[in-house]
Amino acid sequence: MSQKKKPVVVVTRRLPDVIETRMMELFDTRLNVDDHAMSQVELVEAAKTADVLVPTLTDRIDAGVLSQAGPNLRLIANFGTGVDHIDLKTARQRGVTVTNTPGVLTEDTADMTLALILSVARRVVEGERLVRAGKWTGWSPTHMLGHRLWGKRLGIIGMGRIGQAVARRARGFGLSIHYHNRRRVHEDVESELEATYWESLDQMISRMDLISVNCPHTPATFHLLSARRLKLLQPHAIVVNTSRGEVIDENAMTRMLEKGDLAGAGLDVFEHEPAVSPKLLKLDNVVLLPHMGSATIEGRVAMGEKVIINTKTFVDGHTPPDRVLETMF
Ligand code: DGY
Repeated sequence: MSQKKKPVVVVTRRLPDVIETRMMELFDTRLNVDDHAMSQVELVEAAKTADVLVPTLTDRIDAGVLSQAGPNLRLIANFGTGVDHIDLKTARQRGVTVTNTPGVLTEDTADMTLALILSVARRVVEGERLVRAGKWTGWSPTHMLGHRLWGKRLGIIGMGRIGQAVARRARGFGLSIHYHNRRRVHEDVESELEATYWESLDQMISRMDLISVNCPHTPATFHLLSARRLKLLQPHAIVVNTSRGEVIDENAMTRMLEKGDLAGAGLDVFEHEPAVSPKLLKLDNVVLLPHMGSATIEGRVAMGEKVIINTKTFVDGHTPPDRVLETMF
């Protein structure tokens, strides 16, 4: 009996060992052993040879790549939830299905959001830098004063899975929950979180002490926090972003941070990452992380498992569980 040919699966970055091993067993898997971020030329090459492409957010799967893809490319099984690096319209027009890995990085990203809120409000990283620099001369009543979280107002932009997980944690820190979302969430969720819905983003942000960005980056959310909107924030407000840098006009926000028109920012993502503005690097009132919101072993393995399930389901002729449709965004 002839054995069915295994699909060629090209993985663009290193994945956890256990995931790569399982993928090698199931598919004709081509790995990126030195884990370099692929150039557009390499991505075109990958798309030419693959039946299934497994990219990550560091790969720009644009119309240029997709238009040169080979006839066998039928699935892009993204390792990650955000799909703003994939041209979904061109993929659909070329009959290429796209999947992602939602749900399994919710709690980790929400943890990191709270870590940033705490770090900025309580000056954790600034204090750590001071101690390491050998500049700490001892306790004093007025040294390193931050701001109390208890009783403050948190405005969450994007009340999906991650936004709700942030809200759940934030309630434990005594924050009151406010949110803006494309759609109002179910009343059961609102009452569990005692969350106040603001139809107007402008009105919400002008009244908050803390802002957390948790919406995906889409054409509609690009610079949602524009220069004009950022000016509505109160000068004591803190902005935290664990979503995508493009949602905030980073230059405008940096200018405000420099001038003291905004008290602080906690950023896990940047508009032109991995490039980080030298102006941000100079500021003490910001905490800057290298896009590590979902960086837990458990989360990354679960993401890999989702890639495997989506790929296996698809190559077996079924609709994969995490199919991405343009209408979702
Ligand atoms: C995603 O999955 O889109 C995250 O940004 C990765 O951390």
